[in-house]
Amino acid sequence: MSTVVTSRPPLLFNTHIRPGEIWRDNASHPINAHGAGFLHHEGITYWYGEHKIDGEAGNAAHVGVRVYASRDLLNWSNEGVALAVSKDPAHELTAGCIIERPKVIFNACTARFVMWFHLEPAGAGYEGARSGVAVADTPAGPFTYLGSLRPNAGIWPDTVASEQRLPLSAAESVRLASMELPGGPVPYYPKQLLFRRDFSGGQMARDMTLFVDEDGAAYHVYSSEENGTLHISLLSEDYLRPSGRYARIFPGCFNEAPALFKYEGRYFMITSGCSGWAPNQARVSVADSIWGPWEELGNPCLGDGWQTATTFDAQSTYVLPVPEKPGAFIFVADRWRPSNASDGRYVWLPIRFRHGVPVIEWNAEWDLGIFD
Ligand code: GAL
Repeated sequence: MSTVVTSRPPLLFNTHIRPGEIWRDNASHPINAHGAGFLHHEGITYWYGEHKIDGEAGNAAHVGVRVYASRDLLNWSNEGVALAVSKDPAHELTAGCIIERPKVIFNACTARFVMWFHLEPAGAGYEGARSGVAVADTPAGPFTYLGSLRPNAGIWPDTVASEQRLPLSAAESVRLASMELPGGPVPYYPKQLLFRRDFSGGQMARDMTLFVDEDGAAYHVYSSEENGTLHISLLSEDYLRPSGRYARIFPGCFNEAPALFKYEGRYFMITSGCSGWAPNQARVSVADSIWGPWEELGNPCLGDGWQTATTFDAQSTYVLPVPEKPGAFIFVADRWRPSNASDGRYVWLPIRFRHGVPVIEWNAEWDLGIFD
């Protein structure tokens, strides 16, 4: 059972959100939960994220997914390790694997908490491009690891015409094998080959998020096809596997770090470009149906120089709807520090809407009263 919610007063009260500053938990330790995802459940908000150790080694997983809990989004109690790495070198979650961007959703039918995350087996860089799945009966876990997959093996995307539903020809395979695909934009990016190459083994899935719609349908959104194309994939009713319906979004546009939210019946998605740990310009897109068509609206960040060019020196991970404040959303991003991973910082900023379009402005110190 979760021990959440403090009968003892915290040692230190956070009264404001200070983007980029060290954010301390109720025991005065820096919060260690990067690439975060959030879950509101029974009056408590849970913050899940990558626990990072010091130094460059911290770019891989040595502890697992940590979880914090809060009733006010300012003061957080450390609820422990929700999903632990394994000491067994043969285990997929062995220490030194890569666990990124964990997201947790609650399935009302099964009454289980379901975690998805980007998994790279140890020692193989980012070649695995797999999705890990874990479940728990309580929000803070511990979660039980179910295994990993590459989504949608043997299934054609919705948006692909029947004449393109073909395995690669021998000539196409040779052409593809000769291309260098570094995970970022290249002029020769083959928009129509990669999902076909990966048809039988499953689609690549790196940066990811989960989104639960008002009707309870849950979606897994991930950077696929060597990071060049996003996929939106409907999960099964128990949220444990892909349902077999998915769409390709913005082929060849290289979107990472997807964060989805719904405002006044429309779907919005904030993403970054692909430049590894180094920040770049955010983009926001909108759609009336989650299946698209999606329209790109440009950079949601306002301000000067570094603020618009580097998303406030950060990269999106989640858009957090503020409990009990309909229409209030917080942009949650990571300021990565790959040379000393544990020193990565959190950049939380309020989202405003101008003529129905989300915008984000720098604010060095703010509180939830900003939404009143
Ligand atoms: C970023 C990605 C991070 C991590 C990093 C590794 O682009 O958003 O989650 O994978 O690359 O270089």
